[in-house]
Amino acid sequence: MLQIQGINVHYGRRQRLFDVTLPVLEDGDILGLLGPNAAGKSTLMKALSGTHAYQGNILYKGKAQGQYGPSAWAKDVAYMPQSPPQESALLPFELLWSAARALKLALTDAELRALIESLLNRLGLAEVALAPMHSLSGGKRQLVGLALALIRNPRLLLLDEPTSALDLHWRMVVLDWVRERIDHQGGIAIAALHDLDLAARYCNKLALLDRGRLVAAGPTEAVLTADVLARVFNVDVHVEKGILGHPLVQVLRPQLAPKSSLTALTSPSCSIK
Ligand SMILES: Nc1ncnc2c1ncn2[C@@H]1O[C@H](COP(=O)(O)OP(=O)(O)OP(=O)(O)O)[C@@H](O)[C@H]1O
Ligand SMILES: [Mg+2]
Repeated sequence: MLQIQGINVHYGRRQRLFDVTLPVLEDGDILGLLGPNAAGKSTLMKALSGTHAYQGNILYKGKAQGQYGPSAWAKDVAYMPQSPPQESALLPFELLWSAARALKLALTDAELRALIESLLNRLGLAEVALAPMHSLSGGKRQLVGLALALIRNPRLLLLDEPTSALDLHWRMVVLDWVRERIDHQGGIAIAALHDLDLAARYCNKLALLDRGRLVAAGPTEAVLTADVLARVFNVDVHVEKGILGHPLVQVLRPQLAPKSSLTALTSPSCSIK
């Protein structure tokens, strides 16, 4: 069980998350974290992963995040940041090998080799396993980032836009795999997503952030409504039930810019026709 209550985060003196409380997450839940650019999704992910300081409570299996030692936390919890692994001369195979050894996974060399090969095969990376990271496409580097997260067989997955660089096929392969793992092995996943169709398809709960505050949270169908989406994303949308049974969001048009921002632009040095 994961409880996230009253999270506040600052960068320097600027507060960017304000008292964010998410629904309690249970084994089997995938929560989609939605919101416009700069809403605070990555900031919340950093707080949850323990890579950025916060005030508030994050209780995982009834124990405060701060009570886990860094290695116990890293063994159970995988955080895939929004930026994929750096371009470098390292090879995906080497990266995965050294990540597994740094995590002190209890595997013989032969077992680790077999694990890495199965991850690489599953993610379509076998052909680039021995190619330097700087020669990989953005999507392939993102898939290496996912393999790095999954190598520890985590119980809590924190995925920050895990599919943003992937094509249609790999987006679904990746999220099908996350869903399959959570359904069969248990655990919880939180994924920051911009793609509302993927969110509707794979997440049973959603939380919607806007300017650092939670604006809606709950079961997917309750959050993905035309009213809520129009208010937060400034778009006119139509929501209906898709043929697969989950909500289907059709964006009709962006709304006109709010009057206040036009006023701000029409200062003496700037006019709009
Ligand atoms: N390292 C940082 N230092 C200072 N401010 C930051 C830092 N990282 C993020 N911010 C600010 O915090 C706010 C939230 O940013 P965050 O990256 O969490 O948004 P996001 O919802 O993930 O956006 P996106 O959809 O664009 O990834 C923004 O105003 C951003 O400028
Ligand atoms: Mg982000």
